[in-house]
Amino acid sequence: MERIEITGGRTLAGRVRPACAKNSVLPLLAATLLCREPCTLCGVPDLADVQTSLQLLASVGAAVERRGPDLCTAPRPVRGLVPDPLAAAMRASVFYLAPLLLRAGRVELPLPGGCRLGPRPIDIHLDGLAAMGATVRTLPDRVVVQRRGALHAVDYTLRLPSVGATLTLLMAAACARGFTTLRGAACEPEIADVAAFLNAAGARIAGAGTPVLTIRGVGGLLPGGARHTPLPDRIAAATYAAAVAAAGGQVTVEGCRPAYLGAFLQFLRRAGCRVEAGQDGFTVARDPDRPLQGGVDLRTGAWPGFATDTAPLAAAVLLGAEGASRIHDALFQNRFACAAGFAAMGARVRARGRDLWLAGSDRLQGTLVTAPDLRGGAALVIAGLFAEGSSTVLDPGHIRRGYADLPGELRQLGAACRPAPARAPKAVQYG
Ligand code: EPU
Repeated sequence: MERIEITGGRTLAGRVRPACAKNSVLPLLAATLLCREPCTLCGVPDLADVQTSLQLLASVGAAVERRGPDLCTAPRPVRGLVPDPLAAAMRASVFYLAPLLLRAGRVELPLPGGCRLGPRPIDIHLDGLAAMGATVRTLPDRVVVQRRGALHAVDYTLRLPSVGATLTLLMAAACARGFTTLRGAACEPEIADVAAFLNAAGARIAGAGTPVLTIRGVGGLLPGGARHTPLPDRIAAATYAAAVAAAGGQVTVEGCRPAYLGAFLQFLRRAGCRVEAGQDGFTVARDPDRPLQGGVDLRTGAWPGFATDTAPLAAAVLLGAEGASRIHDALFQNRFACAAGFAAMGARVRARGRDLWLAGSDRLQGTLVTAPDLRGGAALVIAGLFAEGSSTVLDPGHIRRGYADLPGELRQLGAACRPAPARAPKAVQYG
């Protein structure tokens, strides 16, 4: 098992540029299957979930090649069967539902895995595809979706603004026959990013980034291909911002519009950080000798609300802030599994269901903790920057799913933080 070792107490300084957004890149890779012509996704980071996606694409017969930082695809016939271990490895396997249905006519998808944040049903994906004429069979461990002929257009209202379901139905509608309206759609920037890619390949989508999307389907695969640079990772940007808020110092995050993480920067400002927003980046500064102000009641919500992925990062910042705080996650039932790690470091925290209570003004002591999921793991690394002494974050493969090299990036900013390989089992001496 990989470990990240951190020695706390160093302030951060410098500049950092987030890679392309994981949550754009993963659906974009699936969306390339909809294109009749080759596609290039530029500057794709080497995340574990990207590697899993490349394995998934290869397993269904697709051609994808890494050329330096870019990923290039070429159209080829594909099979509509996702292997069990690849579906289990990441939630993003659900993005293959619509593309494989459209390309292969039938898709068999084992229920997707990913971070254990609580129940993560896919009913809206399936209900929307059924409304477009697909036949859906739900088995205990998988779903099988088929179509006869082209999917048809629909006027469909999502029962909640699911990011994943909006992307599934957007991809399906782009290739369906006729004029689709999707209402109650998710508005996260990654939706507009995927829509921009699909439009560049010949789709006709309007309204991406608003709750009502209108799509004139082309009645088959998209006629073109596209060369696209996915937008920067706003959650990675928030991670660097949280790191400097917790550790102190001054860090400039480049190449990421501050509006992408407006609610998080507002939270940092209220806590007492200095935040300077520019056109294409922002600077966060915090005096390490002045405690931050907690005493907040945060609620996560759909865009442009406080992003659920930033809730554990906010928690790491609030551990040492003055005043008791509460964070409520409106999206996932088990967002705060990282609380066990915070508590092991000496924090007075209590997680129950969707809520996390933090007493604040805690001094943390470095210790051995385990990353429970991707963002919870990043939050424990941040807590380690703030703790006294050495911390070890055992990572059973979570953090690398969303950050190509989080320890390296933090080290460049002056943190004492490095990955360490799995320890070899101790030699046993006999006699
Ligand atoms: N939901 C349903 N039925 C559905 C789909 C969703 O009930 O058919 C519920 C979910 O259970 C959840 C809520 O709707 O309670 C929101 O889920 P959503 O579909 O919006 O999330 P997702 O598509 O599964 C993506 C990101 C998450 C991010 C959320 C919210 C990917 C691969 N994942 O998940 O990112 O937290 O949107 O913004 O794009 C991460 O990066 O660590 C991560 C978990």
